[in-house]
Amino acid sequence: MSVRRWVWAGLLLLGVGMLGYSLWPRPAPPAPEAAPPPLHQASPPILFAERTVPIPEDNPQTPAKVELGRRLFYDTRLSKDGSVACASCHKPEFAFSDGGKPVSTGIFGRKGLRNAPTLTNVAFRRHLFWEGRSPRLELQAVGPLTAHDEMGLEPEELAQKLGAIPEYARAFQEVFGQPPSLKAVTYAIAAFERTLVSYNSPFDRYQAGDDSAMSQAALRGMELFFSEKGDCFHCHVGPDFTDDEPRNTALYTVYKDIGLARATGKDEDVGKFKTPTLRNVALTAPYMHDGSIQTLREAVQHYNRGGEPNLNADALIRPLGLTDPEVDDLVAFLESLTDRSFTTNPAFLPPKNEGVSR
Ligand code: HEC
Ligand code: HEC
Repeated sequence: MSVRRWVWAGLLLLGVGMLGYSLWPRPAPPAPEAAPPPLHQASPPILFAERTVPIPEDNPQTPAKVELGRRLFYDTRLSKDGSVACASCHKPEFAFSDGGKPVSTGIFGRKGLRNAPTLTNVAFRRHLFWEGRSPRLELQAVGPLTAHDEMGLEPEELAQKLGAIPEYARAFQEVFGQPPSLKAVTYAIAAFERTLVSYNSPFDRYQAGDDSAMSQAALRGMELFFSEKGDCFHCHVGPDFTDDEPRNTALYTVYKDIGLARATGKDEDVGKFKTPTLRNVALTAPYMHDGSIQTLREAVQHYNRGGEPNLNADALIRPLGLTDPEVDDLVAFLESLTDRSFTTNPAFLPPKNEGVSR
């Protein structure tokens, strides 16, 4: 089976898994064994870019709503002290993560506890936050808007503040037929976030049939990634390289941040975090829920060592026996998931100063 077909197999598996999906189901059974796929084998092209973004019925996309969401996303007036916007921690040039910072700084210089994840293809995530505690973008946005160490506004305060800005009052009336409210703010921002779609990396161009899109090292790395030896693809599966499931990767023996157990209170959930997407991962250092790993090479080395002793470690985490050149190849593959047209898309960047003053 070619690597392209492998990706398809992963997609199908994911689809089947989603059918029987309930809250945190058991991990999907491992994919069937396959011989390492030969490189450059002809196979039907895959155009991930044609995936349909799931849009909730109660929040249809309209250009005016998306534009309002974009303005709100970049506007620091949505915070208590006027210093923090969503974009302060989700910066476009770092694929909407917090460029180089292990944890982010919110209002009044308050530091958070976790690494700000990328918003690449976030519309497709079935669970949000590192332990997956939020089911949809509209609800997720309430978190940072009101959290005392992020943006810190009470719902009434936010509504009043925006209502007093004539351009916003007008825009909310136009889009929602009502004055600004916390709910409308989250609906507009979610609509903008659903446009943050990235399927134009060298990997995508290769999958679409351009055999010269990826380097030889990246192709060797891809083979490892999808092989039983590298074994990355059981968790980092599907078009976004994530199963959206909470997993323990044995990062620590004793986790300071207990992850999913924070929500469930169960011992077996300690240290479980949602498998993150690997799209644009070369732009989103440092890595893991706490930003404790600095480089992609160190991340691969963590898996190669098999992590630290941990009772909850996923069965897939074990010493891999990768040589140094193999580690380099895996890094080259991860780098081939970078989509430059995503970070430079003018539709995703701060809006020009028309209408709404900043
Ligand atoms: C002070 C920094 C900061 C600000 C401001 C901030 N975020 Fe975040 N964001 C984070 C961190 C840290 C996480 C991970 C938190 C967790 O998992 O507990 C996160 C997680 C997310 C996620 C979940 C992504 C996923 O794949 O699970 C989304 C979506 C998101 N933020 C959107 C927003 C929006 C929209 C705003 C503005 C309303 C915003 N953020 C403001 C730091 C920030
Ligand atoms: C058992 C499931 C599983 C396997 C197998 C796995 N990963 Fe992960 N991966 C995760 C989870 C879960 C995290 C986040 C862990 C955390 O934050 O504590 C993660 C994080 C990462 C990150 C950091 C991403 C970020 O945004 O912080 C990289 C890079 C990565 N994995 C690459 C790989 C590679 C390469 C392999 C194969 C060698 C691999 N993973 C195998 C589940 C897995």
